[in-house]
Amino acid sequence: MGTVAREINTVGVVGLGTMGAGIVEVFARNGLNVVAVEISEGALERGRANLTGSTDRAVAKGKLSEQDRDALHSRVDFQVGLAALHSVDFVIEAVPEHLDLKQAIFAELDKVCPPHAILATNTSSLSVTEISVATHRPNQVIGVHFFNPAPVMKLVEIIRTVVTAPEVVADVEALIARLGKTDVTISDRAGFIANALLFGYLNHAVTMFENHYATREDIDAAMKLGCGLPMGPLALMDLIGLDTAYEILDTMYRRGGRDRRHAPAPLLKQMVTAGLLGRKSGRGFYTYEKQGSPVVV
Ligand code: 3HC
Repeated sequence: MGTVAREINTVGVVGLGTMGAGIVEVFARNGLNVVAVEISEGALERGRANLTGSTDRAVAKGKLSEQDRDALHSRVDFQVGLAALHSVDFVIEAVPEHLDLKQAIFAELDKVCPPHAILATNTSSLSVTEISVATHRPNQVIGVHFFNPAPVMKLVEIIRTVVTAPEVVADVEALIARLGKTDVTISDRAGFIANALLFGYLNHAVTMFENHYATREDIDAAMKLGCGLPMGPLALMDLIGLDTAYEILDTMYRRGGRDRRHAPAPLLKQMVTAGLLGRKSGRGFYTYEKQGSPVVV
């Protein structure tokens, strides 16, 4: 590993949905100062509520003291607008998977963030290279892909493009180690390692359900109890979010040579259109009580 060129003390997180809020929690828990940014006051409040809900659950379970929770919150500065990121050493974007949106954000981050700052994207399927060229510093742009739930999952995929500077990769690897996570560093291909392997399987499970071959409970029981996975594929889709899952599959299908395994199952699109997005909307393949376990309907 090369010399660590930058001290990373203050980080920015852009987008405070499921992933972004989880990423804020991971940084703040590990002593970093976080500038947490959203596009509007309403979205900011939802992000703040995501963080509060997660840390309150940790306190209720006795995994975090009230004092540590308050210290964690005091390290997070919630702000509307990218201009608040003027003093960060590292910023990670976690907005929805639309290339135009991400490119517009990166063009703005390039103007607002200090010259030494590393600009990272949490994209799960888009091209980091295409995002990087929206800036004048593509050598300081990198993919840093967390998994859901970010506070729990141990892996982070680091994606270096053909122009990412080696010292930027080294600095990000050191940062991920500070978070107590394990990284794998790879090049820029659709779905990277984990999603490239996972999403064909998830899509197949939706098709199996759609074709009435098996019930949702039986599909999930087969993989959970038969294969030792922590949750079945349909429950996992609900956790990831059906809109996010659809976008990942669609992008992988288009970027990955139209592999039919990644052609989104028609049911998935219908559920997204109907607003059945999984846990975050209260209903997906299963129905959820607020933040709770599935209830059968
Ligand atoms: N935030 C913080 N902590 C959480 C959490 C959350 N959202 N959800 C669960 N946890 C914690 C719980 O507090 C609990 O901690 P404890 O053991 O110290 O008490 C621990 O995780 C286990 O949770 P539960 O007891 O409630 O439930 P489970 O044992 O069923 O675990 C799970 C829940 C961690 C979600 C587990 O089922 C799991 O690992 N599922 C698979 C998740 C997975 O595959 N994620 C990757 C998805 S793909 C992806 O993210 C890529 C992206 O691009 C879409």
